[in-house]
Amino acid sequence: MKKIISVVGARPNFMKVAPIHRAFGAYAESWEHHIVHTGQHYDAAMSDAFFRDLDMPHPTWFLGVGSGSHAEQTARVMTGFEQVCLEARPDYVIVVGDVNSTIACALVSVKLGIRTAHVEAGLRSFDRLMPEEINRIATDAIVDDLFVTEESGLTHLKHDGVDANRIHFVGNTMIDSLLYALPKSEKSTIHHDLGLERGRYALVTMHRPSNVDHPEQLRMIVDVLTTLAADLPLVFPVHPRTRKNLQNLGIDVAPNVHMIDPVGYIDFLALMRSANFTLTDSGGIQEETTALGVPCITSRTTTERPVTVEIGTNILVEPTKSGILEAVALIRSGDMRAGQVPPLWDGHAADRIAAVITAHYS
Ligand code: UD1
Ligand code: UDP
Repeated sequence: MKKIISVVGARPNFMKVAPIHRAFGAYAESWEHHIVHTGQHYDAAMSDAFFRDLDMPHPTWFLGVGSGSHAEQTARVMTGFEQVCLEARPDYVIVVGDVNSTIACALVSVKLGIRTAHVEAGLRSFDRLMPEEINRIATDAIVDDLFVTEESGLTHLKHDGVDANRIHFVGNTMIDSLLYALPKSEKSTIHHDLGLERGRYALVTMHRPSNVDHPEQLRMIVDVLTTLAADLPLVFPVHPRTRKNLQNLGIDVAPNVHMIDPVGYIDFLALMRSANFTLTDSGGIQEETTALGVPCITSRTTTERPVTVEIGTNILVEPTKSGILEAVALIRSGDMRAGQVPPLWDGHAADRIAAVITAHYS
């Protein structure tokens, strides 16, 4: 029996790892699959809720690293995860996405000589001011196996000279979770609880430093929300980074914007699938809205997920008031084209990952 550890740390990691855990259940004679939670995110609404909503077991190890500067947080994850690896001696480690926990754990396991995979490899925004872009480039440069969600990932890894035998185009485990949880989202009471009518509201999330850490930019976003809320209800589950910045700057948001705490995955899916559109700077929400066919406005200059713009429902807009309002006008005019679901976003990406790893290494 071999031991495999998958790493979760921040909110978008849970959706990517839950299906991987389930998929290894089919290989229980070969693999013992464990989850380590670094504790990068720790509020109940940013962490605990997802274990419940995604039917994920409690992590075997919880490192409790918490918040800090990039160096502090990365260093704490590395020291904690090194201890886990030395004690548990895993045969294989899986990291997902592009957060600080991803690069920190990849560095540890690769240096201990443990075979390591990156799920969601090859994505690039080509914006090195994004901390995630540095995490992506660094992780892809050191891991052994690279699992890719969309064709742009293949192109970038080939361009970087990665051996083709180590690259596997498997689809998107985040969409595995979406398809798994969609039936449950039908039972959510969130619309009733918030007094929202399905199809008659927009869903907003904002948490990128480029949008919420600069006072003028954050004021612009709030100004846009105030304008939009004049004729369409808005629901805005507020990320802790954004909440903190709004409070520190004393910025008030119009009372008709439903500012709520982050919601669990099932409720968020319910909100997303029935929204008139979403306005976001999230990575994962660009993909989920494309899978659901819901229009998405992404307030960023770049995206590392170009397939969502090329064939999906995502519109990338200059993060300015006019950029966002023009995109809203396009969607509300009904002129936006319908999107397509990208290849292999079919609910079975994690099964492919488990099959590849088992075929090569069990
Ligand atoms: C992190 C990821 C980002 C990802 C996002 C998902 C990095 C570099 N960034 O950004 O890629 O899109 O998670 O949500 O890894 N905080 C709390 N409670 C929590 C977590 C955070 O209050 O449970 C507050 C703290 O004040 C903290 C701040 O949010 O300093 C930022 O948290 P951090 O994990 O550093 O970065 P995120 O902005 O969450
Ligand atoms: N999400 C959620 N509740 C919320 C906001 C987001 O469950 O209140 C989910 C969303 O459906 C997606 C993931 O969190 O699966 C995206 O995480 P986030 O936007 O924090 O990170 P990113 O994808 O930008 O790294």
